[in-house]
Amino acid sequence: MLGIETSCDDTAAALYDGGRGLLAHRLYSQIDIHRDFGGVVPELAARDHIQKLLPLVAAVMAAAGVSREQLDGVAYTAGPGLAGALLVGAAVGRSLAWSLGVPAVGVHHMEGHLLAPMLEDPQPQFPFLALLVSGGHTLLADVSGPGRYRILGESLDDAVGEAFDKAAKLLGLGYPGGPAIAAAAQTGDPRRFRFPRPMTDRPGLDFSFSGLKTYTLNTVRDHQLEAQTVADIACAFQTAAVDTLVIKVKRALAASGHRRLVVAGGVGANKLLRQRLLDECGEFGVAVYYPRPEFCTDNGAMIAYAGWLRLQACAGEEPGFTVRPRWSLEDLPALD
Ligand code: KG4
Ligand code: ZN
Repeated sequence: MLGIETSCDDTAAALYDGGRGLLAHRLYSQIDIHRDFGGVVPELAARDHIQKLLPLVAAVMAAAGVSREQLDGVAYTAGPGLAGALLVGAAVGRSLAWSLGVPAVGVHHMEGHLLAPMLEDPQPQFPFLALLVSGGHTLLADVSGPGRYRILGESLDDAVGEAFDKAAKLLGLGYPGGPAIAAAAQTGDPRRFRFPRPMTDRPGLDFSFSGLKTYTLNTVRDHQLEAQTVADIACAFQTAAVDTLVIKVKRALAASGHRRLVVAGGVGANKLLRQRLLDECGEFGVAVYYPRPEFCTDNGAMIAYAGWLRLQACAGEEPGFTVRPRWSLEDLPALD
């Protein structure tokens, strides 16, 4: 199964084989194109996917020693994401599948993230609680089986990754903000500032991160931004964001009774979050599963795997293509 990912600012492709597992994966990041703008410019993203996708598909096929005729199907990200960017992957993926006479599968990007830990050893068994934390989403989902997702809580405003990106911009730390904040926080003094843990003082599993962004803005305005202050603010921001996620995860585990936690999405690469969840969920006897950091952020492997899984349960799609820039996980059909 060839997997193609173009929902945002990464062009990625991978090959997954049901028997042998992941054969090869390749990724081209557009970070340098968007850096000067401090965020992703949708039209530039789409144009660059057009230039990079076909050579990347050729490179991944060559790396795996697989010819086009050996493909059993082509999976591509059909949503959610940037419409223009999604259309590039959909057009290439569907055309390739049609020309080879194999099925095409439009994959839900967040299902891809959610299933990425299945590419690791040991694989998590169903059922589990999933924390999906990326630049576009922050959600807790009850996963009772493949394709069976119930959203328990989500962000009412900014996604946590988006908050990392905005805070980094305010601190002059560049884009993408998550890794930049994490790096700056290493030399920060954790006692200097205390940032709020939004919505943790009331029941429920929803999140809100826009207040944390405003708090960062006000703190930045009130201080001279010399290097130590930047590090101290980055440290306070990261601690508060991670603490908020950990509090809600523990609450969701207690309410649902799940003994397994799967963490995925770009913010899942954050070392502090990984360590705290391992420590604090481990104390409860809950097993925590992560993809390797490069499969936390956007990648083709998760799309190839999710597409392969879906193709076991369905025959692929009718010809023609639509992308779904907005798409809920709860609208997906179950796979078992
Ligand atoms: O999953 P992803 O690659 O793309 C989306 O689907 O959104 O996630 C990207 C997000 C960005 O907001 C980025 O700042 C954040 O993940 N991120 C991190 C880290 N690495 C990436 N956030 C915190 N700590 C990190 N180490
Ligand atoms: Zn993503």
